[in-house]
Amino acid sequence: MGKGFYISKPLGFVLFGLGVGAVLTIFALSVVYSQEKRKNEVNARDGTRMVTTAAPHSTSAPSNEPWDKYRLPDTLLPAYYNVTLWPRLVPDEQGMYIFTGKSGVALTCVKETNLIIIHSNELNFTLTSEMHHAKLAGLGGTSAPVILKTWFQIQTQFMVILLKDNLQVGKSYWLYMEFRGELSDDLGGFYRSQYTENGVKKVVATTQMQPTAARNAFPCFDEPSMKAVFHLTLLHPPGTVALANGMELDTENVTIDDQEVLQTRFEPTEKMSTYLLAFVISEFTNLRSPSEANVLIRIWGRREAIESGQGDYALSVTFPILKYLENYYNTTYPLSKSDQVALPDFAAGAMENWGLVTYREQSLFYDPKVSSNEDKEWVVTVITHELAHMWFGNLVTMRWWNDLWLNEGFASYVSYLGADYAEPTWNIKDLMVLQQVQRAFGVDALVSSHPLSSREDEVITPDQIDQLFDTITYSKGAAVLRMLSEFLTESAFAKGLHNYLHEYAYSNTVYTDLWKKLQEVVDADSSIQLPASINEIMNRWILQMGFPVVTINTRTGIISQQHFLIHPDAVVDKPSDYNYEWFVPITWMKSGSNMGQHWLLTKTASYEPMKTDTDWLLANLNVTGYYRVNYDPQNWERLLTQLTADHKIIPVLNRGQIIDDAFNLARAQIINITLALRTTKYLYEEKEYIPWESAIRNFEYFFLMFDRTEVYGPLQTYLQRKVKPLFDHFKVITSNWTRKPPRYMDQIPTNLKITVYCNAIAAGGVEEWDFGWQMFKNSTIAAEAEKLLYGLSCTKEPWLLNRYLEFTIEPNLVRKQDVAFAIVYISGNVIGQPLVWDFVRANWEHLTKDYDDGSFFFGRLIRGITRKFSTEFDLQQLQRFKEDIAASSFSFGTQAIEQAIEQTKANIKWVSENKVQVMNWLIEQSA
Ligand SMILES: *[C@@H]1O[C@H](CO)[C@@H](O)[C@H](O)[C@H]1NC(C)=O
Ligand SMILES: *[C@@H]1O[C@H](CO)[C@@H](O)[C@H](O)[C@H]1NC(C)=O
Ligand SMILES: *[C@@H]1O[C@H](CO)[C@@H](O)[C@H](O)[C@H]1NC(C)=O
Ligand SMILES: *[C@@H]1O[C@H](CO)[C@@H](O)[C@H](O)[C@H]1NC(C)=O
Ligand SMILES: *[C@@H]1O[C@H](CO)[C@@H](O)[C@H](O)[C@H]1NC(C)=O
Ligand SMILES: *[C@@H]1O[C@H](CO)[C@@H](O)[C@H](O)[C@H]1NC(C)=O
Repeated sequence: MGKGFYISKPLGFVLFGLGVGAVLTIFALSVVYSQEKRKNEVNARDGTRMVTTAAPHSTSAPSNEPWDKYRLPDTLLPAYYNVTLWPRLVPDEQGMYIFTGKSGVALTCVKETNLIIIHSNELNFTLTSEMHHAKLAGLGGTSAPVILKTWFQIQTQFMVILLKDNLQVGKSYWLYMEFRGELSDDLGGFYRSQYTENGVKKVVATTQMQPTAARNAFPCFDEPSMKAVFHLTLLHPPGTVALANGMELDTENVTIDDQEVLQTRFEPTEKMSTYLLAFVISEFTNLRSPSEANVLIRIWGRREAIESGQGDYALSVTFPILKYLENYYNTTYPLSKSDQVALPDFAAGAMENWGLVTYREQSLFYDPKVSSNEDKEWVVTVITHELAHMWFGNLVTMRWWNDLWLNEGFASYVSYLGADYAEPTWNIKDLMVLQQVQRAFGVDALVSSHPLSSREDEVITPDQIDQLFDTITYSKGAAVLRMLSEFLTESAFAKGLHNYLHEYAYSNTVYTDLWKKLQEVVDADSSIQLPASINEIMNRWILQMGFPVVTINTRTGIISQQHFLIHPDAVVDKPSDYNYEWFVPITWMKSGSNMGQHWLLTKTASYEPMKTDTDWLLANLNVTGYYRVNYDPQNWERLLTQLTADHKIIPVLNRGQIIDDAFNLARAQIINITLALRTTKYLYEEKEYIPWESAIRNFEYFFLMFDRTEVYGPLQTYLQRKVKPLFDHFKVITSNWTRKPPRYMDQIPTNLKITVYCNAIAAGGVEEWDFGWQMFKNSTIAAEAEKLLYGLSCTKEPWLLNRYLEFTIEPNLVRKQDVAFAIVYISGNVIGQPLVWDFVRANWEHLTKDYDDGSFFFGRLIRGITRKFSTEFDLQQLQRFKEDIAASSFSFGTQAIEQAIEQTKANIKWVSENKVQVMNWLIEQSA
């Protein structure tokens, strides 16, 4: 055991209490904390996956043949599939893991055609009795035309079957195929995950179909509106258990090709989309719900994890959440069971497969001994997010991916309502402002942002679909739906939702279908007064990118709006039908009592009740509106005076927002930076998490920009002074660090571990690092491994950081799902930053080959490693890098590099304009 490394929790508390260092520690802790939170946030909650496509990443189809278009023709509809799959959990003679399969699909012809076009990607067809890779038969006495020719369109991922005669409208046919595919480790389609238990390597076969990888498992009509019923059979080795969307019907011993295997059949699925299919074959064990529950709930995972109780928390919250959602949606959960499986290798956070939800281990497992509160909060919100999709997404599904925002934004929004129900004492709904609204503001204030809703024909290729799984889709989607629910009232919103789910169950919709059902509720309820239809109000929020800053002049009563852009010189080159103006619901209060609501429908308006020269005026109460607020200087002064005199009169969410708005307005050069800094002066009296977290996030930008300059010292001094009373407060409420504070939002000190790891590694040398690495390798708890992965990046030894970087791209050492995190952590280290930049450029080709998942990995990586870029030199390097990769054949991540360039330019400007003022202000404060 390396010296100085192993620190028990009580000792951690002692360290924490060591005077001067302690104040720094709590600050460091908070920074780490926000890093941990952000790390979770970039980790989009579901859906993103990795798929290797043989096709070149080109968006233009060369010809106009139906098989060169990416969308399926509208000639055929699938009714049901019979699929049998057999994954081999040991490699074949060539060292390849494979699966074999047979599948048939009953399809109905709706327009006469002599072509069958069905998705298939990276499958080899093995039906050798005919030369055509497929057999076609008529159903219900119909005769089938003869197959003339079968071929594959690699780029569009189609199998094309040309028939001698036309299929007849209204008739049904049975298309049958046999095939084999690779069970690769690319985290997409039908893939394998590995782990070691008691020294024995175990292989799991599992799936990630969303958005376009069901076609990698078996030939299918792989579009969300091609709903069908799936009859699934899995063949699997003795000693393993097979799971799928439907409940297991029976398991038999069978002998196939001289091999003894188990054959498990499943009950047919509901009528559903291909992207929601899932199957898992493993040696996992499970916990199950007590028998009185009318839905069987099982939590599955590695035996060691389940036996040590890591699934207990998930089991305890799943049933209550499911019941809460049934009630919220006024719709019974339609399946007989809900399985939730934790997988050792998983690209996204979790995936809402209907009846068989799959998770990254960290998103499902919770161990009170080693996981932090934040880990627990993550688990409960992810579970709710996925279960929310069982209705919104699975029962009623978007017609096409361009409406993904509605699906994901909705689940992200509802996840807080369900989590609040499961953990009512946590005030978890308040966190939506930090985790979704402010997060969306960050990306949506760039000119490189995009509208929530795209046109159907703008999202065609798998790459374009992948790119939709971003912050705008998830967080802005959630923020905008929260605003809608607030101005309609939660009960009207829920009522419209019930009607929507009842009307469109088992079918597909576009977003205007939801608006229509909500409008019906509004029309029938005279207590809801809106200035325009839901469609007119909401179009402005979803069809144009960005959001407004509302400026209120309390001297004149004039209010106005302007598209908020963080980069003051940015030029918007995308026109908007709405001229970048919004219908803005403005809630407000005057001096803590007098409240009101007003709609701003034009660029500028006069509104007498907001006029005052004595009261302070506060707008956007609880930040329910998706916009920022600016005031005339006098009102800012009155708000600052109130914060210092008695901050509690201002709602806690707005205290956070005053800080966040002020810092962002300053970055956009709308207000003076010193005004923003002044919003933090009252913090020595603040005991609440949300305002502190808002301040720390904004100061984090200062740390990123200034941590290598002379501003760093005065900044630290200023913050230490503000934090000291908070620290003393915690010391009291924890009885000198001996007990846990009662309120969830106060429980920061129990989450020390990550800080301790980081500090210990930073203080130590190679021995401590190697010890930490061994602990990481041997860790059987995902949340723990994650903390170690971070802790290891804290070393001050460049050679250790370089070696760590080399380790990250060794697949046997660091799981692919963790690579981007590890690299970004290292770049967060002042010493690591230049090393990472060299490393990523030197290994770009290797990274693009091995981690090709469209935009997800590279977006995370590029954003993470360029965060500190703030010099002309940095900018030149980025631009050269962009040119280099544009010239190469590995042109991934270009959108992320564009955004990094925009951000770096803004950073350079910001530093040059603010450094002296910030420095002077900070020095004045300590005088
Ligand atoms: C598909 O499977 C179901 C259930 O096993 C069976 O009843 C049906 O006959 C099969 N259909 C065809 C065309 O083989
Ligand atoms: C499919 O065929 C290609 C070309 O022959 C081969 O390289 C690949 O390994 C095959 N895949 C499987 C899973 O058999
Ligand atoms: C399969 O065979 C094994 C040994 O021959 C037996 O122990 C097991 O119970 C059988 N399983 C089923 C599902 O019949
Ligand atoms: C839906 O609401 C009605 C009326 O309130 C209630 O009777 C019914 O039990 C609810 N159904 C579900 C599944 O919650
Ligand atoms: C603001 O949110 C708090 C919870 O943080 C709640 O108690 C309060 O009622 C909300 N105020 C308004 C005006 O919605
Ligand atoms: C910001 O305020 C400070 C102090 O009040 C002043 O010295 C500085 O000139 C102001 N900066 C700008 C850009 O107005």
